[in-house]
Amino acid sequence: MRRRYPASRTGRRVLIFARRSTLEKTKGSLVIVGSGINTTCHLTQEAIARIKSAEKVLYVVGDPIGKNVISRLNPEAESMASFYEPGKPRMTTYEQMIARMVECVVAGLRTCAVFYGHPGVFAYPTHEAIRRLRGQGYQARMLPGISAEDCLFADLGVDPAQHGCQSYEATQLALYRYKLDPTVALVVWQPGAFAQHTYSAEEYDLSRLPELLAYLSEFYPLEHEVCVYEASIFPECEPRADWIPLRRLVEVPLTSASTMYVPPVRRAVPDPAALERLGLPVATSPRPA
Ligand SMILES: C[S@@+](CC[C@H](N)C(=O)[O-])C[C@H]1O[C@@H](n2cnc3c(N)ncnc32)[C@H](O)[C@@H]1O
Repeated sequence: MRRRYPASRTGRRVLIFARRSTLEKTKGSLVIVGSGINTTCHLTQEAIARIKSAEKVLYVVGDPIGKNVISRLNPEAESMASFYEPGKPRMTTYEQMIARMVECVVAGLRTCAVFYGHPGVFAYPTHEAIRRLRGQGYQARMLPGISAEDCLFADLGVDPAQHGCQSYEATQLALYRYKLDPTVALVVWQPGAFAQHTYSAEEYDLSRLPELLAYLSEFYPLEHEVCVYEASIFPECEPRADWIPLRRLVEVPLTSASTMYVPPVRRAVPDPAALERLGLPVATSPRPA
């Protein structure tokens, strides 16, 4: 809200200054868009328009084609991938990304940041940059993108409406011991970076993965079939969808692009009293697992 100043000559000057400084402060802005998992095919029309019209583009996408697509849309595009360094805590990298986004906006630039997948899904720096910039009075917003989970639903034929869906980060799942419901589908993110707080350009040391397996086995039989899934990052290519018994989780290769899908073990049974209270026929209850 604008403050009122006395109507003296000096006062008017103060008012003009206050208006101008507000305008100058809000000139820089941030929009964060997602490149999807397969940048060539998943960039939305809205994201393309924002990348093209931005005065500064910052991006974090893994695939080389994605980098070319973004650089062609805007030659001012600057990769933030160099903030990742082997052995460096991921939080340090995220803080550097946030600082760079904030720096560009405060410098007065209409800034567009591109993060892979959906920019707000398992992406701390995006939400945090928006929160900090809004706190300083700048315009900052996020546009949705296609996440790995969206690709999983399409490739594996999973509809979260059918059984519901639990979605957890692998390390947090084992750490916070979230209670799992085996009648509900489960998506486990980042199993390939289990118990790691630093970045590695190579595959991670997964010697602690049995801890995740032990926790999952408290809810699921070891013979239950689960899927190690990797959406294709290139057009016209098939995803990886390896169905294995849960017990083999510690044997199969897991990469930084792996997501695990665990189907429900059995169907949920509707509560007869709730059916009656809601006046619904049994047919509206979930279909068999
Ligand atoms: C830091 S999160 C980023 C998620 C991303 N923002 C999104 O919307 O999908 C990284 C995790 O996303 C998942 N992921 C990334 N790329 C993937 C792919 N190509 N296929 C399946 N899962 C993927 C994996 O679980 C990976 O460990």
